[in-house]
Amino acid sequence: MLEHDVIIVGGGLAGCRAALEIKRTQPQLNVALVAKTHPIRSHSVAAQGGMAATLKNVDPEDSWEAHAFDTVKGSDYLADQDAVEILTREAPDVVIELEHMGVLFSRLPDGRIAQRAFGGHSHRRTCYAADKTGHAILHELVNNLRRYGVCIYDEWYVMQLILEDAQAKGVVMFNILDTNVQVVRAKAVMFATGGYGRVFNTTSNDYASTGDGLAMSAVAGVPLADMEFVQFHPTGLYPVGVLISEAVRGEGAYLINAQGDRFMANYAPKQMELAPRDITSRAITLEIRAGRGVNSDGSAGGPFVYLDLRHMGKEQIMSRVPFCWEEAHRLLGIDAVYQPMPVRPTGHYSMGGIPVNTDGQVRSSIDGLVEGFFAAGECACVSVHGANRLGSNSLLECVVYGRRTGAAIAQYVLNRKFPEIDEQSYLNAAQGEINNLLEQSGTLRIAQVRQALQDCMSQYCGVFRTQELMSEGLNQLKQLQQQLPQVYLDDKDKCWNTEIIEALELRNLMVVGELILTSALNRQESRGAHSREDYPQRDDTNFLKHTLAYYSSAGIELQYKPVSITLFEPQERKY
Ligand code: FUM
Repeated sequence: MLEHDVIIVGGGLAGCRAALEIKRTQPQLNVALVAKTHPIRSHSVAAQGGMAATLKNVDPEDSWEAHAFDTVKGSDYLADQDAVEILTREAPDVVIELEHMGVLFSRLPDGRIAQRAFGGHSHRRTCYAADKTGHAILHELVNNLRRYGVCIYDEWYVMQLILEDAQAKGVVMFNILDTNVQVVRAKAVMFATGGYGRVFNTTSNDYASTGDGLAMSAVAGVPLADMEFVQFHPTGLYPVGVLISEAVRGEGAYLINAQGDRFMANYAPKQMELAPRDITSRAITLEIRAGRGVNSDGSAGGPFVYLDLRHMGKEQIMSRVPFCWEEAHRLLGIDAVYQPMPVRPTGHYSMGGIPVNTDGQVRSSIDGLVEGFFAAGECACVSVHGANRLGSNSLLECVVYGRRTGAAIAQYVLNRKFPEIDEQSYLNAAQGEINNLLEQSGTLRIAQVRQALQDCMSQYCGVFRTQELMSEGLNQLKQLQQQLPQVYLDDKDKCWNTEIIEALELRNLMVVGELILTSALNRQESRGAHSREDYPQRDDTNFLKHTLAYYSSAGIELQYKPVSITLFEPQERKY
């Protein structure tokens, strides 16, 4: 059996930052990081616009308190304010630390880190590396992993969290190269497995964002928090859905409808294009519904609106948002210097996830903790984003809470023994599961069932929701779950068999979809990104609380947990 003091699942910003913190503070610890892609291909690499921190390089009157207020207001008052205080207070320090590691941030003429405007932020506080910020940060973190001697299992797929007697003891994983299954035991397990964007048919997320860590935790008996809160980014490039960064609007681009109007004036007259994402995505959806969307031939009544950069000029476009220009050019043949880009909302981010305390330790219930189990980043819910995340707070969360969780784990494992695990039974079960998949003799292709699931989630649990829609979505999803045993794999080999992974990912997406729909059905109010046409108001009396959803094959049970309100009393949210 393999053993490491700490095993971290996920090679993005949160996982890498945690690994570094453990090795930096306790170099003698044996730390391993496992990821189903090479770490530099984790979805963090695709993060574009930047990372918020009150460095005050551009707006000297900014403060962590202002950042905290914007974050809590943006969350529609569902964020836990003690966690937000940590996030915003520690932000400048983690950015400077990254700079010292060598991250190539964009600069002001005087050499300090540049900062730009972002949606829902009252000051220009988003630090960036053009529109490739995740790329710049992740590469330095991965370089540092090697320098500090972290053991990396890249292109290994983790298929089970070993959780016995309320203690995480390790994971079961296999090498994608040859399907060799291994049990890893550890004194602490950390999940930093990212989001689940692939549960929707249109998403900014990469193919690997299939909610594996969330589903494995749920199946192991850990509750998932606030799964109803799904962020739809306003500007997915139509029709592909890839991200066109909010940085484009932060640099001055307009959203215009088929009539050429900057329609955000009707939805958020003060913030305009830089309103928070929930509001902007609803505005675009309503414009399209009202027949003011655009068709490919430029006529009205179509499925997208325009993101117009033309007035920004070539120099600004190419120096500040070159990657967004390139995406539109490469994918649609559009030259954004001269033509507007077609955009509409796209599935982007999970506000909910594995509930953790501010040290990253996973909660087993409203007031209990799981021994030896930690999580950070998008898969976790600490909860700093509440019902709606502000752009550029996600990279920040990964680094602040990755660092904190790493520090907590480094202390946690000291003087602990390795847990006892019945290795053979886990190996048998995992090998049996893989063999069953290979031998399954159904008639359905993986892609067919996955597409049906993605269409179901997008149609019945999108930007706007109702009881009727979501109930139908849940019925359809349950029927799709019945189809899993009828899926067949073309590839029967054990060498680089990506179909095995796709089949396991599909199972995970089903679990995640059911948790989203069930949590959303039971929240009978509109708050942040959860917008119910049958309950259009926020209801603090009944729903100023976090959902905890416990998954089991018999059904999902819901409990609710109070919100931590330490700084700002909830008030009406206007922009
Ligand atoms: O629009 C963006 O660049 C995305 C940033 C984020 O999700 O924080």
